[in-house]
Amino acid sequence: MSKMSDQAYLLTNQYKNAANLNARFQLHALFSTNKYGWHQWVFDHFNLAAPSRILELGCGSGYLWLENLERIPQSWEITLSDFSAGMVDQAQVNLQTSQRPFNFETIDAQSIPYDDETFDAVIANHMLYHVPDMARALVEMRRVLKPGGRFYASTVGEMHMRELDELARKFEPDVALLFDGDQTHAFTLENGADHLSPWFSRVTLHQYEDALEITSAEPLVAYVLSMLRLTETMLVGNRIAEFTDFIKQELARHGSIHVSKASGLFEAVRMDDERIP
Ligand SMILES: C[S@@+](CC[C@H](N)C(=O)[O-])C[C@H]1O[C@@H](n2cnc3c(N)ncnc32)[C@H](O)[C@@H]1O
Repeated sequence: MSKMSDQAYLLTNQYKNAANLNARFQLHALFSTNKYGWHQWVFDHFNLAAPSRILELGCGSGYLWLENLERIPQSWEITLSDFSAGMVDQAQVNLQTSQRPFNFETIDAQSIPYDDETFDAVIANHMLYHVPDMARALVEMRRVLKPGGRFYASTVGEMHMRELDELARKFEPDVALLFDGDQTHAFTLENGADHLSPWFSRVTLHQYEDALEITSAEPLVAYVLSMLRLTETMLVGNRIAEFTDFIKQELARHGSIHVSKASGLFEAVRMDDERIP
């Protein structure tokens, strides 16, 4: 099984707590060329009435809400959930001074503990590629949405951060990052509409134009370490310092390191049951 959807690995290692995700956010926060902001841009696309009941699956550290606090209508009832209790705890800590009554739950997207037609919107950002039985999760997400309810799912494209993979491999040819390898079943910008269209109508993809222009080594190294599948055997001990020196040499030679991004948001609607094949 690909580590990307290995639930034991994801729960006990990659997403045991927010450390790996924070390292990745840090690189994006420091060096993104699009200064508008990803989470603000995602929020811009929410086409929801007030009041609305909203369920987020795989919420991570809760940044979607943290970075849009001033814009959230008072009448929205929002439940943040993640299958990692450590991530739910982090989201709760991040939002605890917000004065908003968010709900927090530990939920696996493949088995959602709510009645049919409970929510006006379901959000699944950068998480469907981790779900082993994606079809089951999509059936569940659709089930808890009201007819006419909105579904939002962000993800990355196949070329996302490609130069970073190449750089890591230039230093260590056998390096295996989390997000490469078996992409067949992953949920990407390229195949996302095919995954969604059996269950949802009016599937639309919005793309976010962005890149990284990296000028310091340490945040890049922290990002690569957060993605490593095989940290036990690669880039450990002295090799981390050597990799940092290697990146510093690249920066000295080129001034900065350019990394492409491919990110976007699928928007879809739950229509009536008879529309389902
Ligand atoms: C890449 S992070 C994205 C976090 C957040 N949505 C964001 O966009 O910043 C993926 C998140 O999905 C969660 N996750 C992975 N598999 C899941 C599943 N089957 N059900 C619910 N959450 C899951 C992980 O614990 C992690 O917090």
